[in-house]
Amino acid sequence: MKAVVLVGGEGTRLRPLTYHTVKAMVPILDRPFLEYLLRHLVDHNVDEIILAMGYKPDSIKRYFTRTHSFLPKLVYSIEPEPLGTAGAVKYAEQHLDDTFFVLNGDVFTTVNLTAMLRFHKESGAKITIAVTPVEDPTRFGVIETDCQLRIKRFIEKPRRDQVTTNNINAGIYILEREVLEHIPSGKRVMFEHDVFPKLLSAGEPLYAYPIDAYWIDIGTLENYRQLNCDLLTGKCPYPGSETATLRVPNDCLVHPQARFHGPVLVGEKCKIGYGVQIIGPTVIGAGCQIEDCAIIEKSILWQRVTVGKNAVLKDCIVASNSYIVDSSGLEGVVVTPEHRTP
Ligand code: GDD
Ligand code: MG
Repeated sequence: MKAVVLVGGEGTRLRPLTYHTVKAMVPILDRPFLEYLLRHLVDHNVDEIILAMGYKPDSIKRYFTRTHSFLPKLVYSIEPEPLGTAGAVKYAEQHLDDTFFVLNGDVFTTVNLTAMLRFHKESGAKITIAVTPVEDPTRFGVIETDCQLRIKRFIEKPRRDQVTTNNINAGIYILEREVLEHIPSGKRVMFEHDVFPKLLSAGEPLYAYPIDAYWIDIGTLENYRQLNCDLLTGKCPYPGSETATLRVPNDCLVHPQARFHGPVLVGEKCKIGYGVQIIGPTVIGAGCQIEDCAIIEKSILWQRVTVGKNAVLKDCIVASNSYIVDSSGLEGVVVTPEHRTP
């Protein structure tokens, strides 16, 4: 089974946190988001993954060229310009078989893809779309079905008065190859605006598969924080993340007078000084240096961040290579690469 992962459009940044880092590569517990998604696919017997990219493929290529031992076959399909969600899949057509997965590259889920595939085969659908309930469907694509889960209507980013259900498109699809015949080549085409509505009005069988699992779109800072927190606290059960209250690799230099409270994950080669307090849920990325008596609470530090002496950080997200000067007091602040000091 093959899968296309959509990792690049225009909105691929996690604003205002990233400019150079694409959304798919933002660190979740100090590992790129995309790595979790790819591992999940591999766990469900996907043996070839096509990364459909319309923007900045370099950092992704670099990372997975180094860290690919868990991957069966990875293909980079790089659009000359972003072709839209369906256009990107059409562009990768030469790599695809009869039935394949398509996933938005910014959703984190523990959905059972094997069960979803079984459902798809049994229903005889041309497309199966995973659906999940959310509080505010206006940010997503709403899906109305009949009682047999056959899709009746699809409304992308509905106005509040158009919302009839809180079940939304979870950005995980199974497609039959013939769907590609409905996507014109070399044009910007969206599943959400073009392909799904067109196939529905042609009477094609499109089915919804309700997800009974953790699901989140990391496209907003709030959700980005939430995912880190849910993995650290065990709210999202994920192999290897289960409620470890403290993880500090052996190669870190931690002063015996440093204190940790609550779930805290520390990356490799960190230095943590005298009197430092780290209060979870908190992530300290690899190569960070936390100087004496600093306090870090409920924050996410990316890699190689230096936090100066006596600085206090609460509810912050700090991008890689940032330097927080001594005695700073930051609360609810996002430190972006633009704040970097030489
Ligand atoms: N390769 C490629 N080329 N990928 C693209 C392009 C493109 O031109 N445009 C978008 N993508 C990728 C994005 O990088 C992202 O991984 C995914 O497609 C979805 O795009 P978003 O911009 O994140 O869309 P959204 O979150 O507003 O809405 C979509 O996802 C929701 C679920 O999270 C829609 O599919 C909604 O219907 C859905 O509910
Ligand atoms: Mg999204």
